[in-house]
Amino acid sequence: MPKVFRFGISLDKDLLEKFDLLIKNKNYSNRSEAFRDLIRQELVKKEWREDREVAGAINLIYDHHKRELLNKITDIQHDFQKLIISTQHIHLDHDNCLEIVAIKGNPKEVQLLADTLTSIKGVKHGALNMSTTGKDIK
Ligand code: NI
Repeated sequence: MPKVFRFGISLDKDLLEKFDLLIKNKNYSNRSEAFRDLIRQELVKKEWREDREVAGAINLIYDHHKRELLNKITDIQHDFQKLIISTQHIHLDHDNCLEIVAIKGNPKEVQLLADTLTSIKGVKHGALNMSTTGKDIK
């Protein structure tokens, strides 16, 4: 078990009230867990900035009737195969597909893959969820 340290934080009343409202809306049971998550978020951002190995997911929404689009998305994924752990294709409705591309690797290469996929003509929405391998985050 890692040692746990306690320390005090000084905040003005207004900021503390805003923080308490924020964490209440996010269903945190206490300030400590909310504060730990804020720190972890910053550590994950740092991993992306510092070119460390990262993990995450790219979500794409597109119309599957556009067959050329489907081929293009697949071709690009083959080009970036070393970054891709797995791809899940979900048929959302008659027209729309959701593709979730799970990634692990260099942040700059992952960003390039996400940008390349998202900018394909016909992709309605693309988003990169920047997460972590979790190796250096407690
Ligand atoms: Ni589909």
